[in-house]
Amino acid sequence: MQKYVIHGGHPLFGEIEISGAKNAAVAIIPAALLVDGCCRIENIPQISDVTVVMEILQELGADVRTINKNTFEIDCRHIRSCRVPDELARRMRASYYLIGALLGRFGEAQVSMPGGCDLGVRPIDLHLKSFKALGADIDLQGGFVYAQAPQKRLTGATIYMDQVSVGATINAILASVLANGLTVIENAAKEPHIVDVANFLNSMGANIMGAGTDVIKIHGVESLHGGTYSIIPDQIEAGTYMAAVAATGGSVLIRNIIPKHMDCITAKLVEMGVEVEENEDTLLVRRTGKLQKTNIKTLPYPGFPTDMQPQITTVLSLAEGTSLVTEGVWGSRYRYVDELKRMGANIQVDDKTAVVEGVDHLTGAPIQAYDLRAGAALVIAALAAHGQSEITQVQYIERGYEDIISKLRALGADIRSVEEPEEAPAANVG
Ligand code: UD1
Repeated sequence: MQKYVIHGGHPLFGEIEISGAKNAAVAIIPAALLVDGCCRIENIPQISDVTVVMEILQELGADVRTINKNTFEIDCRHIRSCRVPDELARRMRASYYLIGALLGRFGEAQVSMPGGCDLGVRPIDLHLKSFKALGADIDLQGGFVYAQAPQKRLTGATIYMDQVSVGATINAILASVLANGLTVIENAAKEPHIVDVANFLNSMGANIMGAGTDVIKIHGVESLHGGTYSIIPDQIEAGTYMAAVAATGGSVLIRNIIPKHMDCITAKLVEMGVEVEENEDTLLVRRTGKLQKTNIKTLPYPGFPTDMQPQITTVLSLAEGTSLVTEGVWGSRYRYVDELKRMGANIQVDDKTAVVEGVDHLTGAPIQAYDLRAGAALVIAALAAHGQSEITQVQYIERGYEDIISKLRALGADIRSVEEPEEAPAANVG
């Protein structure tokens, strides 16, 4: 097990390159199952969630070739099995995309219920409802989802999402690109990675219109062909580094981003007194003065992303005045607050709302990451804090941040990853 040791209090300066989007990659890689040809996918982040989904595809019989660190060729012409190994599926939330992709291409799927970050109750009822609307038989047994299409092919239908769901929207797209006829997804989610998945599939011959709006229309096609595609930059990774500069002070040029995707985050940081200068594919983020309070509610895109809630709350814990943060997507996402309190933050959580009373500074402490974005928030807190912090359970952070240590060190952060000594076996006291 690794842990991060961070000496805080150094402002960040320099340039940072943003990697490909995690949430696009974990959907686009399974989407390669739909393609009758070889997909060359560029800008894939090297993170553990990607490693897991690549392993799953290989287990199913895909031929995966590494071209370089961030480019892979995936050929799914010789898939042997539609059953996803339980142990691998449980390691990531996005394993649910394998249901839509396998069902769409082969008319059947057996996938265990997904794992991933503990953000409270994470149902997949909307995904299953969408598959049923397309004609699939769904059976839940022994923790597995068994999905089957009549005569191995789904039929287009209108799917109304009761709630805006990123995963269910993408899964409905995956299941319907090869279905018979027209599928209409109403009340679809609009996140940038939904558009990216649609663009990937369209570049391989799919006919998807309206991704990025709340009505998506998919005309089923007979087959998809191979091609080359490059994944969009990661909005949340970029936002996390922007938040880090806000917390520590300094000036950093964030490279390889789509500024439009950052608007919802940029707007809040500017309200807090952070200077953000936008260029074609870069943002210059600078903080010299005091941080100011603000109120934030997380919402589906283009609202403020829930995946930035822990990071922004951490920054607000250092702002002048009292801020209110409201979680509008997940039921519970404040587990990290107790860790911030150990560092001197003054935050009270009542159900979905956190009342954040800004403090002058945080103090380094031993702290634990409970999930991916909460872990990122603790890195930010430790970078800004006086003294040394040690963060354990960093495997959560490495699910979603490529090269986080070297990227931060290049900005002047004092952070290193060290091997945690194995816990000594408990003494046998009879
Ligand atoms: C995706 C992201 C996750 C992010 C979330 C919201 C990936 C791999 N993960 O997760 O990082 O926090 O979007 O932006 O892309 N819901 C249901 N039934 C369902 C599905 C969802 O009730 O079948 C509810 C959830 O409980 C939640 C809300 O809908 O309250 C939004 O969830 P959803 O957008 O589906 O999140 P994920 O796709 O799991």
